[in-house]
Amino acid sequence: MLSVAILAAGRGTRMESSLPKVLHKISGKSLLRRVIDSCNKLNPDQIFVITGHKSKEVQDSIPNNKKIQFVFQDPQLGTGHALQVLCRQIKKNEGKLLVLNGDVPLIKPKTLKKLIDLFDSKNADVSLITTKKKNPHGYGRVFLKGDFIERIVEEKDCNNQERLNLLINAGVYCFNWENLSKIISKLQSNNSQKEIYLTDTVSFLNNSLSLEIEDNGELQGVNNRIHLSKCEELIQNSIKEKHMLNGVTFINQASCSISEEAEIGKDVIIEANTHIRGSSKIFNNCIIGPNTFIENSDVGINCEISNSTVYDSQIKDHIKIGPFSHIRPKSKISSYSKIGNFVEIKNSKLEEDSKVNHLSYIGDSIIGRSTNIGAGTITANFDGQKKNQTKIGKNSSIGANTVLVAPINLGESVTTGAGSVITKDSKDNSLAISRAKQVNIDNWKRKKT
Ligand code: UD1
Ligand code: CA
Repeated sequence: MLSVAILAAGRGTRMESSLPKVLHKISGKSLLRRVIDSCNKLNPDQIFVITGHKSKEVQDSIPNNKKIQFVFQDPQLGTGHALQVLCRQIKKNEGKLLVLNGDVPLIKPKTLKKLIDLFDSKNADVSLITTKKKNPHGYGRVFLKGDFIERIVEEKDCNNQERLNLLINAGVYCFNWENLSKIISKLQSNNSQKEIYLTDTVSFLNNSLSLEIEDNGELQGVNNRIHLSKCEELIQNSIKEKHMLNGVTFINQASCSISEEAEIGKDVIIEANTHIRGSSKIFNNCIIGPNTFIENSDVGINCEISNSTVYDSQIKDHIKIGPFSHIRPKSKISSYSKIGNFVEIKNSKLEEDSKVNHLSYIGDSIIGRSTNIGAGTITANFDGQKKNQTKIGKNSSIGANTVLVAPINLGESVTTGAGSVITKDSKDNSLAISRAKQVNIDNWKRKKT
């Protein structure tokens, strides 16, 4: 039987934030979600999340899951106290109890598995993860005696000699829950922080073992925003390295960010300052960026998107977008189309080979194949109460600066005169024009004042 306890009750004072520490995000996912997702890969029987500070907010951040129970720790008297509360509240203290700090977000399932294997093979009372850090500042120092852990001393309780020890406690433990519950009430708070330390349990248990692993970043704890940014960098580097090894070029990788879920094809070039978020897919041979933001969107093969923003949309193949285009949710741009400078598209479908090259707003519209939308064309989709649709058939040519007052339906091969305000539907093969005729007055001069 494997149970997990995640410590997430603390305030996170050093974050200087009104948001509880474990709800801060790295690459779009909270610290707590990351820890839960990681331990879930081991398929535990039950997960206890210990909450306290802003417990409702923390609880609401986690989607319903039968395995997860919340345990309320109030007041929060330290990591050892959190386990005292858990042991008291849960009747059956048996099997293995994996204890994870909610602020150590990058811990890998593989490492947790190793910890459990050591625990099992040595029939331990507790096994915990340690590493040698070049700069161990802020971490508890682990002192060994032979094969066993003798004691753990928190940074603030270390004397000068103890502080030189580079072996640190990562905050990841596997306990024999029954044996833990027998000694848990012995923990005291006679230390510099007046807290009940979970780390003191090693002194009360007989068989306390250290699993020392290489310092590869996954044990980085988050106490302040410098640590948060370190974790972000670690995770981004590993995502981008994965893509580079799969055939993606980054021109200036440090300025780009990619979500964990994003998929990117081969021979894609990501230019500087480009961000691909959510579950986006970029297919082969695209050039994305510079200065481009794409969220939850698919981009087909051979597209070029520069200096633009794309949300929740489908971009098919061989399409050029930008510079300075804004593709808003629910847009579908079909292959061989072109969306140009300062163009906004919303909830619209553009059929193949259509062009909106300059300074336009296209909202709630369906634009037919090979239709050209002239510079400055606007679909006036809002009548003050609701949004209305614009339809333009294939092979049409909308003159520059046309206003299409929706709802409106133009047939195929329709032309509109430049500067027209179009309010009536028009048939296939027609010209729609609505503007005052030009009048020229000869020999006319402005009156002098
Ligand atoms: C802790 C360890 C330290 C280790 C470090 C690794 C102790 C005493 N020290 O120190 O040895 O090197 O983690 O990152 O455990 N929490 C509760 N209830 C409380 C207090 C804290 O649930 O009453 C939670 C916090 O929300 C946090 C986690 O426990 O997620 C760790 O607490 P924190 O105060 O950050 O401990 P550290 O000082 O980092
Ligand atoms: Ca911490």
